[in-house]
Amino acid sequence: MRLYQSVLIGITLIVIGMIAAYLLYGGNGKGVTAIGGHFQLTDHTGQERTNESFKGQFTLVYFGYTFCPDVCPTGLQVMTQAIDQLDYKTQNKITPLFITIDPKRDTVDQLNSYVSNFHPRLVGLTGTDEQIAKAARAFRVYYSRSKEDRGASNDYLLDHSSIIYLMDSVGIYITHFTHTTAVSKIVATLKDKLRP
Ligand code: NI
Repeated sequence: MRLYQSVLIGITLIVIGMIAAYLLYGGNGKGVTAIGGHFQLTDHTGQERTNESFKGQFTLVYFGYTFCPDVCPTGLQVMTQAIDQLDYKTQNKITPLFITIDPKRDTVDQLNSYVSNFHPRLVGLTGTDEQIAKAARAFRVYYSRSKEDRGASNDYLLDHSSIIYLMDSVGIYITHFTHTTAVSKIVATLKDKLRP
């Protein structure tokens, strides 16, 4: 192969790479960490809330559903325990959010009684199927009806990702945990990131 041919192939590959990177990351320079974004939902008191409603607050964002037998309660327990270990001033800087992936059963009333089992600052959010799907897409959360189905139309399980996102006061992703992360580790991270 002649030199100019290799150079040409080289340049072509670089250009293809750049186009691919642009398509993948949307050219926003934030790369794969661009998690979060706009959402419009209804909270457990029936009030409409958007991502803008939480500006000025750090948030811990968890997607799940109230009928979840184990993973979601564990995730919310871990969030609750971590926040409880912060001093009062730091606690006031953070709002934990529980966004349902099961809006059919997780009505405002259902969420209202469920969130009271956890942290008093916990906000439950529901919405239409479309609103939920949009919020889940923004946070790259996966959910689908479980194959391990129970038959009855209103008695079913959902498979879903179990990620606790820590977002900063303008809604930018900082880091994430899961329901299996040690509470002490979450506390250490929150203390570090929410330091005045
Ligand atoms: Ni769950």
